[in-house]
Amino acid sequence: MTETTDKTRASRRKFLAGAAGLAATGVTAAHAGNAKNLPPNVADWTRTLGDGVGVRAYGKPSKHEKDVVRRTVAWLTATPESSVSFTPLHALDGIITPNGLCFERHHGGITEVDPEDYRLMIHGLVDKPLVFTLDELKRMPRVNKIHFLECAANSGMEWRGAQLNGAQYTHGMVHCVQYTGVPLKALLEQAGLKTNAKWLLAEGGDSSGLNRSIPIAKALDDCLVAYRMNGEMLRPEQGYPVRLVVPGWEGNLWIKWLRRIKIGDQPWFSREETAKYTDLLENGKARQFTFVMDAKSVITSPSPQVPVKGGKGFTVISGLAWSGRGKVNRVDVSLDGGRNWRTARIDGPVFDKSCVRFYYEFDWNGEALLLQSRAMDDTGYVQPTKNALRKIRGLNSIYHNNGIQTWALKADGEVENVEVG
Ligand code: MTE
Ligand code: CO
Repeated sequence: MTETTDKTRASRRKFLAGAAGLAATGVTAAHAGNAKNLPPNVADWTRTLGDGVGVRAYGKPSKHEKDVVRRTVAWLTATPESSVSFTPLHALDGIITPNGLCFERHHGGITEVDPEDYRLMIHGLVDKPLVFTLDELKRMPRVNKIHFLECAANSGMEWRGAQLNGAQYTHGMVHCVQYTGVPLKALLEQAGLKTNAKWLLAEGGDSSGLNRSIPIAKALDDCLVAYRMNGEMLRPEQGYPVRLVVPGWEGNLWIKWLRRIKIGDQPWFSREETAKYTDLLENGKARQFTFVMDAKSVITSPSPQVPVKGGKGFTVISGLAWSGRGKVNRVDVSLDGGRNWRTARIDGPVFDKSCVRFYYEFDWNGEALLLQSRAMDDTGYVQPTKNALRKIRGLNSIYHNNGIQTWALKADGEVENVEVG
């Protein structure tokens, strides 16, 4: 007790003397604290009764965490209804994204669907066209699956070079939650697929009526018609009451406010389909059918929004990795811009087409470093450098940038988005 008090007093004196002294004690300005609340004093919050149960009928994070929110980039899109907000990856840990922090991407604003009037129609090349109510979907056998969803445009602004200063902006078009729902296969079996059924068109009930063609093989493999995320009903911005879950494939296919699934014998590209996600190459040709999201990773902390506080010493590097092809089975971290790699420690569950959390702990000697991470999955795929990707895809691309991210950690603990090599 006395020792702590002495240290605290000492650190407060040093705080007045200047930040350099603070760093030496390991106590940063942000943690210098208010003496009246620090040991051996009895803190303010210990002296009064708190809110009773029921006051916070739907709990919210501490008011001290008010900066941990989805953020937008004003110049990115013309209107907020057809835009994107970004997950605050830098402020999270583990693999699950809290529902209120999942990035949102919509083309016609957030649709508010009355669950009483909700219907899912399945028609086209089926024996028996069907219309399901939400209650009917809820009475069917359901499964729970943890999957990441990544927008194909995630990191799209970084194709031409380092641009946005923060993991939230460079990589925040990804989230990972547990979905509860009915396997799409069960619904298609009820309707009875005709022998020539090869593709389906999934359509949203929002004002953009977003629709995409998906191969039947994928639908029968692992797609879900989901109505819950992390236990509670989907949030309106994530497609309440029902969305399509297309594990490992680009976010655009995960139709929200799902209203219709039409079965056909070929894709609807350039017919009924509204969204066209292709990758324009340097030679004028475009890559199509680029559904799968390849392995990718990012160091979430330290990163530009969370510099290292308190100077050199024991430091934890933490990050997220994911692969649309299977399980992430290894993540490497480099401190010198990709010259030397060390294997990071994956902690927490490792699921198929899900995020994993990795850590690399080391004793930072206070020198400037170039931090990188690279993910590997159980197909043997290794996350490429940005330059290797640019060689193949050119600079016209917007989508599918899964290149290795570099953060420059400066001697003062600040972190910046940079490019190497
Ligand atoms: N579904 C509908 N109906 N309307 C949309 O605008 N946006 C798509 C997809 N599904 C969209 C949609 C895109 S581009 C992405 S990346 C994901 O939803 C984003 O899902 P989220 O908002 O839950 O993060
Ligand atoms: Co998208």
